[in-house]
Amino acid sequence: MPYQAGILKENALKGKVILVTGGGTGLGKSMAGYFCQLGAKIIISSRKEDVLQTTAREFEEVYGAEVLALPCDVRDYGALEEMFEKGISHFAKVDAVVNNAAANFISPTERLSANAFHTILDIVLKGTANMTLVAGKHWIKEGQKGNFLNIVTTYAFTGSGYVVPSAAAKAGVLAMTRSLAVEWAKYGIRSNAIAPGPFPTEGAWSRLLPERFAEKFDPARRVPLGRVGEHQELANLAAFLLAEETGFINGEVITIDGGEWLKGAGQFNAFDQVPNELWDKLSAQRKGK
Ligand code: HXC
Ligand code: NAP
Repeated sequence: MPYQAGILKENALKGKVILVTGGGTGLGKSMAGYFCQLGAKIIISSRKEDVLQTTAREFEEVYGAEVLALPCDVRDYGALEEMFEKGISHFAKVDAVVNNAAANFISPTERLSANAFHTILDIVLKGTANMTLVAGKHWIKEGQKGNFLNIVTTYAFTGSGYVVPSAAAKAGVLAMTRSLAVEWAKYGIRSNAIAPGPFPTEGAWSRLLPERFAEKFDPARRVPLGRVGEHQELANLAAFLLAEETGFINGEVITIDGGEWLKGAGQFNAFDQVPNELWDKLSAQRKGK
């Protein structure tokens, strides 16, 4: 399957040290694994140390990569500073940060407690802000170049019901991406984002598509290309954006969703339900047959 093949040239990220938050599972793990394959050294960070260690050992065995697993909660600024320092003392530098850690659940908004709403904002928006401040301050102080890649979603720009805290938080992350792309460019720090459509992961699917919903709302049916994303497709795009050779891309958000959000946006897009026979009849009528 072409969607499952890596696209970048061998050693495209050789010598780079890349920190991936939420890198022990799901899309973070898939991106981090591909960065290893391309010669990068990796720091993966999230709350669950056992999960991180298992992923790190797997990367070492499969790719022979140097991987550091550093547990940390992105809501805790002090702990993030310590985690980043550990990364620097181990690898001497960090070249790029992928802000991928996130949290989400589906719910009618009026059913959410204030704490539930704040929990998502704290992890997604403030967590990303924390990680961005820690790395940005370091790069600026040391006079080093840096690279942020923020994983948002398509509803960061469309909004979406039933995931309102996540939509509000991801919209904030997108605004931060574009703002810092300009403000910190003078330090050689660039900021880009990826907005993925549906990519099956245990973390997202278990929370956003519980079994009863999955039958009724098959995500592939919403996508004009008729399928969900393959993790390698996202990993290819992430590696592309982190490579030196794409260094002029700054402040961009790239959507990778098979056309999903645009299908929802175009007024007549639901006409893909119209059968050919009906189009034939319409055409015959027009020609006076
Ligand atoms: C409503 C909920 C809830 C739910 C928890 N809460 N789950 N409210 N519906 N399903 C409420 C709790 O009752 C509590 O409020 C508050 O949220 C905090 O809950 P805790 O369990 O104490 O929080 P915490 O232990 O910090 O866990 C955070 C979490 C959890 C968000 C609740 O799910 C988590 O750790 N998620 C991380 C991984 C994840 O979500 N991955 C999916 C990313 S997918 P009260 O008032 O009772 O104290 C993604 C995809 C985007 O972003 C696009 C897809 C197409
Ligand atoms: P996932 O596996 O649940 O990823 C979320 C990661 O964030 C986990 O590794 C989790 O690890 C970490 N995390 C959660 N709370 C944290 C905290 N407080 N501090 C540090 N780390 C924390 O789900 P995923 O689908 O791969 O999502 C990855 C990214 O893609 C997210 O930004 C998500 O919004 C985005 N996305 C996914 C989809 C999709 O279809 N899958 C679509 C659009 C966007 P711990 O539990 O160990 O902390």
